[in-house]
Amino acid sequence: MKSCFTQYILCIGAGYVGGPTMAMIAHKCPQYRVTIVDINPERIAQWNSDRLPIYEPGLDEIVKAARGRNLFFSTDIEKGIQESDIIFVSVNTPTKTFGVGAGMAADLQYWEKTARQILESATSDKIIVEKSTLPVRTARAMERILFSTHNGVRFEVLSNPEFLAEGTAIQDLERPDRVLIGSRQTESGLKARSALAEIYANWVPQERILTTDIWSSELSKLVANAFLAQRISSINAIAALCEKTEADVSQVAKAVGMDPRIGPKFLNASVGFGGSCFKKDILNLVYICRYYGLNEVAKYWESVIEINEYQKSHFLITMLNAMFNTLAGKRIALFGFAFKADTGDTRESPAIYIAARLIEEQADLVITDPKALANAKADLKGIEGKVQFVEDPYEAATGSHAIAIMTEWRQFRELDYERIYRSMAKPAFIFDGRNIVDHSKLYRLGFNVYPIGKPALTHL
Ligand code: UDX
Ligand code: UDX
Repeated sequence: MKSCFTQYILCIGAGYVGGPTMAMIAHKCPQYRVTIVDINPERIAQWNSDRLPIYEPGLDEIVKAARGRNLFFSTDIEKGIQESDIIFVSVNTPTKTFGVGAGMAADLQYWEKTARQILESATSDKIIVEKSTLPVRTARAMERILFSTHNGVRFEVLSNPEFLAEGTAIQDLERPDRVLIGSRQTESGLKARSALAEIYANWVPQERILTTDIWSSELSKLVANAFLAQRISSINAIAALCEKTEADVSQVAKAVGMDPRIGPKFLNASVGFGGSCFKKDILNLVYICRYYGLNEVAKYWESVIEINEYQKSHFLITMLNAMFNTLAGKRIALFGFAFKADTGDTRESPAIYIAARLIEEQADLVITDPKALANAKADLKGIEGKVQFVEDPYEAATGSHAIAIMTEWRQFRELDYERIYRSMAKPAFIFDGRNIVDHSKLYRLGFNVYPIGKPALTHL
């Protein structure tokens, strides 16, 4: 049965990371048989349907081309484990909500459960690849579990963190900046590392495949996300200062970013960063630093999160102050709910916070987003208040006192704002949480415009 494929690959966890990553491997390597399993049967059914559970540009095409050929989605985890040589684990590792480290440490219960399941089902040697972002030294915990019985089956644990960003996952997987593989420096560790590197070598140039020891690899992922988030908090902190001093944060970012040591990317001031990784990974880093008694280091990284929280609440206060300190009964349109453009994902989206605070102020909310309305509904379930979800941004804006742009969807740049202005209650406000619209043009149309980190343009 195994003869037509040279390698059997399994991935446990069919999420935002596991799904696209395995689809890319299957797409690039027809000689391998790739199976993705998940404990959630609905998710698997969606992956097997015409409507995939996640929206990611370019994903549909590669899944549909490989599915049933060398890419399979299944709930049979045991069979998957038994027949595979390499097992990627990309189950979720949320922040712990209980007990020691609550609100900071990673909740590793799914990881441990997965390790035990691998141990129970495996009948031949396996390479286990950590894909989920994990606290440093998790591989050690995994090894302890896997090495706990003596049934003759040998496991090698590798760290291979994923650096894809949502919305550009397919592009990031196709042309990664780097593929990082951490292993033990033993003979079997190095052999396993080569086996994994060989998979990527099917399409990634050799010089981009970086190998390290296992702990450096685990830590690099946390640090990469911490550095990225830190850039956003840095520019957002300066945005607040720009608003006070009438400087323009975009011009400051441009001038600063032209220094090649700093670089121009990832310097867009915003209503705050979201996504499943940044906050979780930094909290994790902070927790590890505290654990090792590095309190100053912990505090340093914690401030990246603090600025992000500040940024969200500052946005809300700006809205409130601008609109005469009362939002009660006012219709407010949120343009976008996803944590960034080109995804339907809303995890940790600043829009969740803004929506909740607007509801607290008794505003009437109307939310529009090209891809994230289903997740937005789920996020706001249980919150009492007036909320509507509409597909059409023009309909959302009609009768509204204000628009707040939450997500940098291209569609929102290209709307007919003259038409929108005419349909709104007056005075009409626009709060651009992403600095994506033409502020002077909107001002000329009659809007009172509040960008991030730039002087407000108001007629009042
Ligand atoms: C997750 C983590 O959040 C991230 O830190 C890590 O880098 C990769 O895995 P993501 O793919 O975005 O990222 O998570 P999610 O979309 O929630 O997918 C995880 C999947 O694992 C879910 O479909 C879940 O049902 C599945 N799962 C979880 C299992 O199959 N078994 C379990 O025991 C737990
Ligand atoms: C991030 C990392 O980029 C990726 O390498 C890692 O594997 C997972 O975490 P992701 O969270 O999917 O990816 O998206 P990213 O593009 O990093 O954006 C994160 C958040 O920062 C979004 O809310 C985005 O809108 C915001 N952002 C980004 C800004 O506010 N300003 C910027 O300049 C860039």
